[in-house]
Amino acid sequence: MGLHPCSPVDHGVPSWVLVLLLTLGLCSLQATADSVLDPDFRENYFEQYMDHFNFESFSNKTFGQRFLVSGEGPFSSTQGMRGISGPSPCWSLLSMQRLAIASFFLQRYYGKSLPFGVQSTQRGYTQLLTVEQALADFAVLLQALRHNLGVQDAPTIAFGGSYGGMLSAYMRMKYPHLVAGALAASAPVIAVAGLGNPDQFFRDVTADFYGQSPKCAQAVRDAFQQIKDLFLQGAYDTISQNFGTCQSLSSPKDLTQLFGFARNAFTVLAMMDYPYPTNFLGPLPANPVKVGCERLLSEGQRIMGLRALAGLVYNSSGMEPCFDIYQMYQSCADPTGCGTGSNARAWDYQACTEINLTFDSNNVTDMFPEIPFSDELRQQYCLDTWGVWPRPDWLQTSFWGGDLKAASNIIFSNGDLDPWAGGGIQRNLSTSIIAVTIQGGAHHLDLRASNSEDPPSVVEVRKLEATLIREWVAAARLKQPAEAQWPGPK
Ligand SMILES: *[C@@H]1O[C@H](CO)[C@@H](O)[C@H](O)[C@H]1NC(C)=O
Ligand SMILES: *[C@@H]1O[C@H](CO)[C@@H](O)[C@H](O)[C@H]1NC(C)=O
Ligand SMILES: *[C@@H]1O[C@H](CO)[C@@H](O)[C@H](O)[C@H]1NC(C)=O
Ligand SMILES: *[C@@H]1O[C@H](CO)[C@@H](O)[C@H](O)[C@H]1NC(C)=O
Ligand SMILES: *[C@@H]1O[C@H](CO)[C@@H](O)[C@H](O)[C@H]1NC(C)=O
Repeated sequence: MGLHPCSPVDHGVPSWVLVLLLTLGLCSLQATADSVLDPDFRENYFEQYMDHFNFESFSNKTFGQRFLVSGEGPFSSTQGMRGISGPSPCWSLLSMQRLAIASFFLQRYYGKSLPFGVQSTQRGYTQLLTVEQALADFAVLLQALRHNLGVQDAPTIAFGGSYGGMLSAYMRMKYPHLVAGALAASAPVIAVAGLGNPDQFFRDVTADFYGQSPKCAQAVRDAFQQIKDLFLQGAYDTISQNFGTCQSLSSPKDLTQLFGFARNAFTVLAMMDYPYPTNFLGPLPANPVKVGCERLLSEGQRIMGLRALAGLVYNSSGMEPCFDIYQMYQSCADPTGCGTGSNARAWDYQACTEINLTFDSNNVTDMFPEIPFSDELRQQYCLDTWGVWPRPDWLQTSFWGGDLKAASNIIFSNGDLDPWAGGGIQRNLSTSIIAVTIQGGAHHLDLRASNSEDPPSVVEVRKLEATLIREWVAAARLKQPAEAQWPGPK
């Protein structure tokens, strides 16, 4: 077991821990950030270099990178984590650190961190949107923050879920001198590097519904079959009326759009299959997979059942008279959904460049209609949309693919209900590259606040995570005086 985090070897005075939450400032993560905003978090903007990797273009130009920091002011360290309560991802882990400063670092091109203002996510302005630039932002900002807070030696731990989890792991890999360790929750680092299986994602969404009941999964197949049959008969108006689309269907393109729209509802329900009600991408009841299946099976006609299930995601207000399938779901380079608006465009661009998400459904290994998404389709889409051509091996080169043995102090956690789990690290790769599985856990359940409905497994996993993190913090504190004593080259 590690030392107490406030042991006297830490130069006496500042014994702070810096907690970084790396997020896009997008959808779920935005919600997470905003739910903890008041009153302890302050919003700040850091003057950040536009281009870390080029001294000529944008030579000295900067933009405002948004970040949130706990405490009484942008650069005050008086309050730390004390007094922070309410729903929040990591506090259960961190409340045991007596002096910690938490900061949300938000990624460039998302939310309000826009290098080129409102046009940033339009074609022609996206060239500075890369994972490498984002990490360099975090590293530069972290150093400035430590300096300004007067906590230069504070060990820093990175946290994040999903893409934020990838960023957390990558921070530890790229900047281990700044970040003592990382908790990468539900981070599909293998899949995004092009080392996954294209069938995996929708197969695992299917498994969640099959696990709920084989009858439910069969009803899903039947519903899609019914739509397809009606379409082949030319009964377009029947589909529109029964499924509740705003426009009438007419072309094969419309059918594919409707299939994509409906499939996305299953993706959301599977990812958000928490045992209590949540408000993440939108309000959902507890156990939404179960509720979705109940809705599906309670209707006489399968197509009406599918509509009721999709309504959980697209009609949570109960105010949508019809589904505008092109507006509510926009197909993009991420077949698991990009969302809509500016953040969605930024994510689409990332999925067209470094992040490989070529998952498809095939109606064999999954319950969905065949919706192909191959390398070729991605290439053509990305060329048409952004004028870019994805580079096959770059993420593997830059972020090591699955070969993480040379890294250290990273926890990869995954929930067995989460369709992203199969694209992540699921084996212990060394004594400090740890993989943990949460039985009964959906997408990064461990980062959510604890809840009386939590499965026992997540309680155990959070304990293990906290123990490992305390050990890393203690080791990071120990290292500092030892380094100071190094006599120098002989
Ligand atoms: C570049 O930025 C630095 C730091 O903000 C400033 O001191 C310097 O004068 C700038 N140089 C030019 C050529 O603008
Ligand atoms: C993307 O990932 C898939 C595996 O999911 C792989 O077959 C494909 O080659 C990758 N494509 C690129 C361009 O890296
Ligand atoms: C799925 O595959 C089955 C068996 O080949 C086929 O009969 C059915 O039409 C397919 N369903 C859809 C929605 O394409
Ligand atoms: C949305 O929910 C309301 C209330 O339950 C319902 O009347 C309406 O038909 C639903 N919209 C769609 C498109 O199903
Ligand atoms: C990895 O090691 C941890 C303990 O250090 C253990 O709790 C966990 O179950 C292991 N993970 C796997 C996938 O074996």
